[in-house]
Amino acid sequence: MSQTSNLFSSYQLGALTLPNRLVMAPMTRSRAKNDGNVPTDSTVKYYVQRASAGLIITEGAQVSAQGVGYIFTPGIYSEAQVAGWRKVTDAVHAAGGRIFIQLWHVGRISHPDFHHGELPVAPSAVKPTGVQAYTTNGMQEIPAPRALETAEVKAVVDDFRKAAANAKAAGFDGVEIHGANGYLVDQFIQDGTNQRTDEYGGSVENRARFALEVVQAAADVFGADRVGIRLAPTGAMGGINDSDRVKTFSYVAEQLNKLGLAYLHVIEALPGHPMAPQPGQELVAAHLRKIFTGPFILNGGYTQETAEQALANNEADLIAFGVPFIANPDLVERFEQGAALNTPNPATFYAGGDEGYIDYPSLQETPVATEQ
Ligand SMILES: Cc1cc2nc3c(=O)[nH]c(=O)nc-3n(C[C@H](O)[C@H](O)[C@H](O)COP(=O)(O)O)c2cc1C
Repeated sequence: MSQTSNLFSSYQLGALTLPNRLVMAPMTRSRAKNDGNVPTDSTVKYYVQRASAGLIITEGAQVSAQGVGYIFTPGIYSEAQVAGWRKVTDAVHAAGGRIFIQLWHVGRISHPDFHHGELPVAPSAVKPTGVQAYTTNGMQEIPAPRALETAEVKAVVDDFRKAAANAKAAGFDGVEIHGANGYLVDQFIQDGTNQRTDEYGGSVENRARFALEVVQAAADVFGADRVGIRLAPTGAMGGINDSDRVKTFSYVAEQLNKLGLAYLHVIEALPGHPMAPQPGQELVAAHLRKIFTGPFILNGGYTQETAEQALANNEADLIAFGVPFIANPDLVERFEQGAALNTPNPATFYAGGDEGYIDYPSLQETPVATEQ
């Protein structure tokens, strides 16, 4: 190959030196203990198997019990959770890897079953559309949430601060704020879900305030060069929408510039991907790339080839891969060697115990096909 590869060149991401530019995208795998939402020994193995990624970003981990919206998802607010994650970070570091935890509050994408019968909370009482809650009683209709009081919003910012401190105690290299996919931070940013009239709603300055305060809280704990944020400016999860996404997210990116973050991580999936923008929908990522002055990660449907193109075109500094990392623990080595990829099994993405979790073979474990 005459073309030089950027994917395998090292990169200074905030405080971390990465050996390559492949990031493992955050992915909920629904394998935590339901009792206490604690990561298990299988979680340790799962992340260790993927330690050759330039950076691992864990699945979303709830910052509080109030932030829970799914069964079997881990948290980072109890001692048992911190102890469970400590095993993960120790093992990933021993294997030579780097790992951030994604800090998550689902906001309105939840169900009273998770909250002793109380309503989930959100910026405003706007009911999600097109999604159901996955609870111990099966899939259930999601009701309209309760709008947080102003003082409660500040308390949630504090929950993120505590979660960041817990992440530090658990040995993570940094944190990613989950500002994407229609969850709480995104619900504050976009005006379809934020109809508040206090300092957290109305103007774009006010709607961005929660996100910026959360990021600042994490930066206070870790240093800004160990904090990133993920945004999905063209996402539609739960019916999230904004009247002017380019303007709204451009403002967020401008403000993030002031903080000196490790990175901005943007999902804008390529055409044909289930998360791709609707045909004709205005694209946002390229605007944010121009505005944001720090490291920029792109995600959504990338292959080795399209990732190399995106880096060569300066559309991003790093590319995050989701599903390819589920099915290929040694994705980096496979790309480097031009080896075939394993086929992912969607039936075990969110369920299945160890099956479809820690049993995808690495190249070394794959039997070499012999001619018959
Ligand atoms: C099983 C699964 C779980 C996911 N969980 C999360 C999550 O916890 N947090 C998040 O920000 N995105 C989550 N995503 C989105 C992925 O990070 C990524 O944006 C998406 O898979 C597109 O990238 P890909 O085409 O490389 O897979 C999830 C995706 C999948 C398939």
